[in-house]
Amino acid sequence: MKKQRPVAVVTGGNRGLGLQTCRELAQRGYAVVLTSRDAERGMEAASQLRDEGLDVSSVVLDVTSPADAAGLAGWLEQQYGRLDVLVNNAGVFLETAQEGSDAALEVRPELVLSTFATNTLGPLRVCQALVPLMGAGGTIVNVSSGMGQLDDMQGRYAGYRLSKAALNALTRVLAVELADRGVKVNAVCPGWVRTDMGGPKAARSLEQGAFGIVAAATLPPDGPSGCFFRDGEPIPW
Ligand SMILES: NC(=O)c1ccc[n+]([C@@H]2O[C@H](COP(=O)([O-])OP(=O)(O)OC[C@H]3O[C@@H](n4cnc5c(N)ncnc54)[C@H](OP(=O)(O)O)[C@@H]3O)[C@@H](O)[C@H]2O)c1
Repeated sequence: MKKQRPVAVVTGGNRGLGLQTCRELAQRGYAVVLTSRDAERGMEAASQLRDEGLDVSSVVLDVTSPADAAGLAGWLEQQYGRLDVLVNNAGVFLETAQEGSDAALEVRPELVLSTFATNTLGPLRVCQALVPLMGAGGTIVNVSSGMGQLDDMQGRYAGYRLSKAALNALTRVLAVELADRGVKVNAVCPGWVRTDMGGPKAARSLEQGAFGIVAAATLPPDGPSGCFFRDGEPIPW
């Protein structure tokens, strides 16, 4: 028997902003599919949310794995027969782990490629696998960053910045291509948030960071597409 709640998939749902987004979408009545590249961490996170009374299941998804993406699509087809919301949240900031300078002229090209594999090609691959399950009113949210904003581009961390600028471009390309299908595609900057990635000195709480992601994920069917948001407000690309 297929469930009737709207269905949301969140990538990198086992911790940080992804976990908080899973929690808040489930609190709003979604059947949430918390995906995680590590099966055990995903099951633990989903179990934690189920203990809060929420409808959350876990599925393994490494966004760099075509087999995982295809497996998730098959699982969704079987369980629900559709998908309403996709939040491409999984991301890495590899320069923080790099020794030496983080200047563009010294960054290792391999690090830039690895960053792209997760932050840019990951969302593309997951969209390719899951969009066929989305109908009119579907919503895709790409969790981006002000660090990819051309309007306010700064120096340092070129790998991360390039990956998020390209994710923003992908957002606009998909928004155009999926307009006829009635699927909205938007990018969101959560601000600087206290997660493993953001660190303890970040200005924002998890709730403040997730606010704009959840707002974009729950836009009405005729809501805007091809936009970049922070805190629910459009910002320049
Ligand atoms: N925190 C900030 O200040 C901030 C600011 C702007 C944008 N963002 C963006 O917000 C998103 C979430 O960041 P966060 O702060 O919550 O980071 P986080 O706490 O470091 O969590 C990152 C999540 O991504 C997952 N992940 C990484 N590579 C993956 C892969 N190949 N496949 C599947 N999952 C993968 C991690 O899984 P594991 O647990 O297995 O590593 C983890 O669940 C990212 O896209 C990030 O770029 C964050």
